[in-house]
Amino acid sequence: MTRLRLLNPGPVTLTARVRESLTQPDLCHREPEFAAMQRDVRGKLEAVYSDAKAQGFVAILLTGSGTAAVEAMVGSCVPRDGHGLVVANGVYGERMAAMLTAQGKRFTMVNADWLAGIDLAAAERALAADPSVTHVLSVQHETTTGRLNDIAALGALCKKYNKKLLLDAVSSFGAEAIDFTGWNLEAVAATANKCLHGVPGVCFVLVAEAALAGRPSGATSVYLDLWRHWKEQPNGWSPFTQSVQSVYALQAALDEFSAEGGWQSRAARYAARAKRVREVVRAAGVSYFLADGETASSNILMSFAVPAHTRYETLHDRLKAQGFIIYAGQGPYAGKMFRIAVMGDLTDADMGELCEALTALLARPD
Ligand SMILES: Cc1ncc(COP(=O)(O)O)c(C=O)c1O
Repeated sequence: MTRLRLLNPGPVTLTARVRESLTQPDLCHREPEFAAMQRDVRGKLEAVYSDAKAQGFVAILLTGSGTAAVEAMVGSCVPRDGHGLVVANGVYGERMAAMLTAQGKRFTMVNADWLAGIDLAAAERALAADPSVTHVLSVQHETTTGRLNDIAALGALCKKYNKKLLLDAVSSFGAEAIDFTGWNLEAVAATANKCLHGVPGVCFVLVAEAALAGRPSGATSVYLDLWRHWKEQPNGWSPFTQSVQSVYALQAALDEFSAEGGWQSRAARYAARAKRVREVVRAAGVSYFLADGETASSNILMSFAVPAHTRYETLHDRLKAQGFIIYAGQGPYAGKMFRIAVMGDLTDADMGELCEALTALLARPD
């Protein structure tokens, strides 16, 4: 069977070491061996960015996909009588607003077009107009389009107006800079199975311990209450059953991650892969989906326009037959956009094969 290489934005193609880690011995999550592993994994997550620990952030490990981490962060950190300012430009920013709606919490939406950057001017107007805002919420890498949002600028606004920032870094943690010192962050949500190259099943939130210790949880959920998990995790336990095998995989993935040189080195690898994809796509005359894609796209995932001479399904199915899974556009861009992510265990030979396949498929018919 052809080896499938996943170019969707997670789950990712696993390394042999991460795959093999799944077959370690059965383990109860209430045994000291699990407690030791959870402590180790939490410590490694806290060490991915060198200033996180110094700034007092602790990692809380949860069972669930990336959405669970974001929902736990939004639910626990925004007080029940708080006021969120959601600065969105895609599916995942809008999902944070949907969470606040479900939690019955007040929020203001600064919503930009999916093809535009976050609206910093409108965010500043909203912050200046309403001092009751307690938290600003945004997405670092909006996977809807592959745009890397200007969180440094949003963080500077948060600092200026003294508001805490809650960041969805689900598709960027481990491959993009996150400034725990400068961005006025209170929490960052992410997952095992994207830039860290683990398997789906565990996710995590890095939270400022000062917030956990300093005020009650805002959670309206029992399961996704970070404060409840924080009481148990420093001792190695968890209030609920953890996804033991996913934690095995995350531990192996984090060991590989640091042996390979950490986030900067992962970012450099993705940049080299993205450059190859961009070159073949450009040579075929295919455009970025974002008008400013050349400068605004991440190296983690890029979105392109489906050429007029073909259909998304044709591209997908032909690439799948050659062992590559690409990703469709969402919402209004279904059928019009195709996305290529370069996370996971992709070799030089994989990238070479992909470039050949794309060149053949994207070329205009004579
Ligand atoms: C930025 C961002 N946030 C949240 C999510 C949701 O993660 P999951 O699908 O793992 O629940 C994703 C998934 O792609 C994402 O890219």
